[in-house]
Amino acid sequence: MPFPQHRPRRLRQNPAMRRLAAQTRLHPSELILPVFLKEGASEPIAISSMPGVVQHTRESLKRASAEAVELGLGGIMLFGVPEHHDATGSESLNPEGVLNDGIRAIKEEVGDDLVVMSDLCLDEFTDHGHCGVLDDAGNVDNDATLEIYGQMGVAQAEAGAHLVGPSGMMDGQVAVIRQALDDAGHQDVGIIAYSAKYSSAFYGPFREAVDSQLTGDRKTYQMDPSNRREAVLETMLDLEEGADMVMVKPAMSYLDILRDVAEISDVPVSAYQISGEYAMIEAAAANGWINRDAAMAESVLSIRRAGADTVLTYYAVELGRALKEGSL
Ligand code: PBG
Repeated sequence: MPFPQHRPRRLRQNPAMRRLAAQTRLHPSELILPVFLKEGASEPIAISSMPGVVQHTRESLKRASAEAVELGLGGIMLFGVPEHHDATGSESLNPEGVLNDGIRAIKEEVGDDLVVMSDLCLDEFTDHGHCGVLDDAGNVDNDATLEIYGQMGVAQAEAGAHLVGPSGMMDGQVAVIRQALDDAGHQDVGIIAYSAKYSSAFYGPFREAVDSQLTGDRKTYQMDPSNRREAVLETMLDLEEGADMVMVKPAMSYLDILRDVAEISDVPVSAYQISGEYAMIEAAAANGWINRDAAMAESVLSIRRAGADTVLTYYAVELGRALKEGSL
């Protein structure tokens, strides 16, 4: 009997064979580009902890949106960086506020050619930096926050968002936003719910990206990194409450969670390769320790392989272009 009997290497022997045998593929339509709009900026502002990522001006945001359409990306997720903060994050409800205005700017540029998503959370707008309003004891008040989230959803829908993305991890947020949207006649605006969102050290660079005011942490509302079953609970609740898509975040340290969520979800599943994941790859590549392009592609591929239908990634444009040009 010849030895060995099984030779898996046969399917790896050249690029053509590997291409045929590939079990996961990347396509630009699965990539969602997160972007930041800075109120009052006259030039795009570099984010030092995220090389290549900027806080946009209204004009540069429009150009980035047009580029996303040209590359055939799946969507764009907008974060606003306002000039004024207060205890209740009231700028989030201002129709002319930076986030709502940014949604309008993107829509002016892309219409319905790109799915326009907006972050629905208060942390960018509050002077204390928390994702909700505080009670007298200084704790994040779940139900008082929900009321504002409902109004934010309507404001974002009115500005033209196709999908709103509640990321504050308040209990009941999807149900309240769904109800508010429906009551205001926005039945067609959907919800991409950050369902399993963990309290993570890897959000670090994002704090610079949105000029965060936060001191302390978000451990009373974001999930504990030690918990796996709880992600299933959070996802099932969001599905029951009417989420059109669900999301796991962060991605790379949470691929087991992503797999679990992909198994139970009957709606499309996203994962967010967050700021710190991007920053780690960039930092290692800048030191010559890893091959940047290969790490970019492999990291997003692994997130897809674990079960994400779509991936939010700061690499969306670059990866989308490489895929389009066939250089990967
Ligand atoms: C909350 C929000 C955060 C991110 C997306 N939405 C920050 C947080 O929860 O602390 C992080 C995204 C990233 O790190 O790339 N509005």
